[in-house]
Amino acid sequence: MLKTELEISVRKAAPEQLKKKPDQNALGFGQYFTDHMFVMRWSREQGWHDAQLQPYQNFSIDPAAMVFHYGQAIFEGLKAYRGKSGNILLFRPTNNFERMNQSAVRMCMPRIPVDRILQALKALVYLDRDWVPNTDGATLYLRPTMIASEPALGLRPANEYLFFILASPVGAYYAEGFNPVKIYVEDKYVRAVPGGVGEAKTAGNYAASVKALTEAQSNGYSQVLWLDALEHKYIEEVGTSNAFFVINDELITPPLAGTILPGITRDSVLQLARDWGMHVNERRISIDEVVEAAGDGSLQEVFSTGTAAVISPLGELCYKGECIPVNGGKTGMIAQRLFDELQAIQFGMRQDAHRWMVRVA
Ligand code: COI
Repeated sequence: MLKTELEISVRKAAPEQLKKKPDQNALGFGQYFTDHMFVMRWSREQGWHDAQLQPYQNFSIDPAAMVFHYGQAIFEGLKAYRGKSGNILLFRPTNNFERMNQSAVRMCMPRIPVDRILQALKALVYLDRDWVPNTDGATLYLRPTMIASEPALGLRPANEYLFFILASPVGAYYAEGFNPVKIYVEDKYVRAVPGGVGEAKTAGNYAASVKALTEAQSNGYSQVLWLDALEHKYIEEVGTSNAFFVINDELITPPLAGTILPGITRDSVLQLARDWGMHVNERRISIDEVVEAAGDGSLQEVFSTGTAAVISPLGELCYKGECIPVNGGKTGMIAQRLFDELQAIQFGMRQDAHRWMVRVA
């Protein structure tokens, strides 16, 4: 059952519960959490209920909660930006909640009431508005999450779920910032198979990727570039973000065919590039084509896109022991232009032609 009118109560942190705010110039990523969180519960009988903005605190949760055993967990990532005039803006939040509902359907979890949750999100950000950074490029990262909370060990969809939103002031995701990163083209492990859960933002996809990531990192790479599971040939996505290639002035990205995340930054980049009259192509692209294009000089740029990563230029691809520099290891013109444009829209400094930004305060 999906209740449409969800009552949201507010319990503010007492003055002595308020935390000391971190140095805005040394935030890192996801290390600090604000004073409040949003929590609500779902049961098969009651639907969504007990919605509350409350002080940030630990959960008490049964060790038999099904999420610990069978991994029914989905999440989202979006950001709040402090605009030039001090106002606070969210980037395409409804798209995140709609994508969460797609993940929920795939994982047999309950859908969330998008409009009410958007109100809850805005209220949370407003309550913790002093945590939205005002240093260059820093933002308040928001993490809506849903887990199966029913204590039971039989394998089936749970009858109880917990939904919560955390807020965390963040700087750049990569230590390299906006500088090009080195990527390992993964030809042993795979991320997702057709018919699997690759397009759902479910925790298990991330857990399954950690082995490849740590091996790549121990060899000096920031991330992996995933290839398809059947032929180890076609490009899927980069670690935690979508992959883009510029070859012969054409912007190419793998299509949404079930195994990659339908990125909201990906969609925005495609839109901006189309607005600019670029030739854009969502199609399968093989690693061999990329290597060949690097060889004949037609590979101009490679970059990845994501909420955390924003636009991240890739300066080197390493595949089967061979390292292929991309654009001389420098940030390309298109990645730079997309980064500048996207950030200018997100921080309220450029006209928002697509009405992507939602004002909080
Ligand atoms: C995001 O970009 O928001 C993600 O969820 C990726 C995560 C690894 C930080």
